[in-house]
Amino acid sequence: MLQMLKAIFSIPSLRNIALSSPYMHDGRFKTLEEVINHYSTGVRANSSLTHTLKDWNSQQPVRFNFSDQDKKALIAFLNALNDWDFISKEMFSDPFPKN
Ligand code: HEM
Repeated sequence: MLQMLKAIFSIPSLRNIALSSPYMHDGRFKTLEEVINHYSTGVRANSSLTHTLKDWNSQQPVRFNFSDQDKKALIAFLNALNDWDFISKEMFSDPFPKN
């Protein structure tokens, strides 16, 4: 299943996601709130939409319809994926190391 999804569209890692705005392949969302609102009510029908985002019976896009509390919890979760140690490590600070 994962291999099939990767062949269609790679799902990006969410590590350090709060630090890598803008979001999605075309940078259409500037904030995590916008991403969450998209999953909540914004996913649109499309022939290439993965079946995990479609309702099994109606084949219509899933609307998660998150409550405000759900949205806050999801954003808190995404913020918890920040790895401050990793991003401040000196050994990764130079993209052009000498050796
Ligand atoms: C509440 C549940 C979810 C959350 C919080 C979430 C979060 C995110 C975020 C923050 C991104 C942007 C990543 C980036 O730009 O680097 C993203 C992209 C993506 N997610 Fe999700 N996601 C959820 C559910 C799903 C599900 C169920 C699927 C389908 C299997 C999915 C598939 C994808 C794909 C394919 C992208 C890349 C889209 C693009 O680049 O245009 N996500 N997700």
